[in-house]
Amino acid sequence: MRNISIGLLGLGNVGSGTVRILSENRESLARRLEGRVTVKRVLVRDPSKARDVELPMPALTTDPDDILDDPDIRVVVELIGGIEPAREYVLRALTSGKHVVTANKALIAEHGAEIFAEAARRRLSVHFEGAVAGGIPVLRAVREGLASDRITAVTGIVNGTSNFVLDTMTSSNASYTQAVTAAQRAGFAEADPTLDVSGRDAAHKLAILTLLSFGVRIRPDDIATTGIDLVRAFDIAAADQRGYVIKSLAQARLGPDGRLHAYVTPALVPKQHIFAGVHGAYNAVLVESAGLGHSMYYGPGAGMMPTGTAVVSDIIEVCRDVLGFVRRSTPPEAFHGVQPATPAPLGGLEHQSYLCFHVPNVPGILGRVASTLGAHGVSIDSMDQDTPGDRELLEMVIVTERVSRARLDAALREIDAFDVTAAPTHHMPIVDPM
Ligand code: NDP
Ligand code: HSE
Repeated sequence: MRNISIGLLGLGNVGSGTVRILSENRESLARRLEGRVTVKRVLVRDPSKARDVELPMPALTTDPDDILDDPDIRVVVELIGGIEPAREYVLRALTSGKHVVTANKALIAEHGAEIFAEAARRRLSVHFEGAVAGGIPVLRAVREGLASDRITAVTGIVNGTSNFVLDTMTSSNASYTQAVTAAQRAGFAEADPTLDVSGRDAAHKLAILTLLSFGVRIRPDDIATTGIDLVRAFDIAAADQRGYVIKSLAQARLGPDGRLHAYVTPALVPKQHIFAGVHGAYNAVLVESAGLGHSMYYGPGAGMMPTGTAVVSDIIEVCRDVLGFVRRSTPPEAFHGVQPATPAPLGGLEHQSYLCFHVPNVPGILGRVASTLGAHGVSIDSMDQDTPGDRELLEMVIVTERVSRARLDAALREIDAFDVTAAPTHHMPIVDPM
């Protein structure tokens, strides 16, 4: 039976899951491939660290050349994360004629064009299923399963940490900080968890989904991104009282004019909506396409074994290439002639909104806020305020009717500039019932 040697860069959460799955499923993988996959070398920073998986000590190395310069290694699996030195190692692997598997969404979203061009030049594969929605094979679904269809929108809960934090704050009395710490301990959070809670990780994943769904390359920096770090226990309770839960959503949608809207934001989701049932670190991606209609991809979106599953399925696909079952000519992003684009401004979007104003309890303040909203064409659906003592800050919550973002933003700019306004207005879109 033929043998394929692979080199792993990184043996943390995902690397350990990958090694464990390769070992536990060794026999079934050999039968599927008619060949064996052997992890020959593994790059780490600290070889003395206790590991979740057992590898013979000589397999561990701190020298990337032991993998990148070894002609026997045909596939490099990058699981160290971050941009550098991951980018350098991936490009070196390709220039040395090695196929690449990675779960690094930051790398693919920011430097995919350069990496895919190098792979195409050398007719090598780059696979990155683990980069979006952990163990859910959603990239395969949009790349292969829906290759026959025309996708018009992708909307998802694609950051497990943010969903875990919001869900924990909703279902228990845990504080934001306690919930983030629990996500870090569980291995969901990025090495720098601000990537998760700022929405940046979700923007990376949305850029990759946009590329594979529409053949359009957008820069993560151009995606309007709001994190969950401003969501307070007060907002979660206020949403709950009105029949909603707060979820961090990422959406890319092709408008009828062909322009792409893309954003990441916490949003109020009706409790009956399919996204409201996505708990913990689970992810869900709802795809709208012309032929199939709505289809939903759901499952564990992060963690050692779920992400390891996606990485190993990529390793299988690459090994099939290496063993000559498939001659690959499709580019990794599945589209020839990818078009770069800048998402359209959000001003044209229309939705209901949740607003929480930070204004003092002074005579006439409600009228001033309401008339400013009205002057910009923003209609009020409902309004509540608590009534603290004289001149204390109100938590004035207003739910608007559907209105364009342009009108809403103009009204909020004016209200936030009132001499009495103590802090910028909290605002989140409200998702329509499904
Ligand atoms: P970890 O931080 O758990 O592991 C990183 C590994 O890489 C460690 O083994 C570390 O070595 C090694 N490493 C880091 N930098 C270097 C370096 N400069 N040189 C050599 N080795 C290095 O990360 P994760 O496993 O959580 O994540 C890996 C990748 O997978 C990231 O791109 C992440 O975004 C992505 N991902 C993670 C998911 C998750 O649930 N955790 C889910 C989906 C994708 P040492 O052990 O010695 O410190
Ligand atoms: N930090 C990421 C998350 C890991 O929480 O979703 C999975 O990509």
